Amino acid sequence: MKLDSIRRDYKRASLTKKDLITDPTEFFSKWMHEALSAGLRDATSMALSTVGEDGFPQSRIVLLKDFNSDGFTFFTNYQSEKGRAISLNPKISLHFFWPELERQVRISGIAEKTPVQASEQYFHSRPLDSQIAAAVSAQSSEVPSRDYLEEKFSNLKNQLKGNDPERPEHWGGYLVRPVKFEFWQGRENRLHDRMVYEKQADNWIIKRLAP
Ligand SMILES: Cc1cc2nc3c(=O)[nH]c(=O)nc-3n(C[C@H](O)[C@H](O)[C@H](O)COP(=O)(O)O)c2cc1C
Repeated sequence: MKLDSIRRDYKRASLTKKDLITDPTEFFSKWMHEALSAGLRDATSMALSTVGEDGFPQSRIVLLKDFNSDGFTFFTNYQSEKGRAISLNPKISLHFFWPELERQVRISGIAEKTPVQASEQYFHSRPLDSQIAAAVSAQSSEVPSRDYLEEKFSNLKNQLKGNDPERPEHWGGYLVRPVKFEFWQGRENRLHDRMVYEKQADNWIIKRLAP
């Protein structure tokens, strides 16, 4: 397999200070809106990186479910590997890549659990089978087989007779309060545009970085 000749030029757009908005979340909202309007699949998927007890960073994809001036919300199992890492070190990174728009966004922030009510509400808004799957899956722990999981799933499904399962206490949301954003727009000849917002006191300082 020959990979070293695979490359493409990025020519779609540019990003200058003039394009930015004082509030980075508002600027993120503009880019997310453009990603959704362009019909990108999985535009809300993001790589969540955490640093675990062993000091190794780990990334995995999760779905962004909400964002506002407080921060960015995703849902998961608090006892999963990511949940354990966050409880030891709540400093995390979120990373969006929208290849069709030649854009990436990196956000560093501090994760905290969302209020129980928000977890409860979101859990029960999911399709019934997804709720059942979340209830029977001890995410990130070893399981003996696929059959074991399917049996747990169908046992609970039969037991519930169409009703919602209870939300496991260890299933819920995290709100990530951002401290830094980087907006990256691919440009010609690899001279990409990189604009960074860093939070200092209550202000956002904007810088351009070399590509
Ligand atoms: C497109 C996509 C969306 C996903 N969304 C979520 C999600 O919102 N929450 C979640 O816990 N896992 C989600 N996953 C699964 C995670 O990537 C990961 O496998 C799982 O959370 C276990 O991660 P951990 O062992 O590092 O904790 C998603 C995976 C993909 C590919």
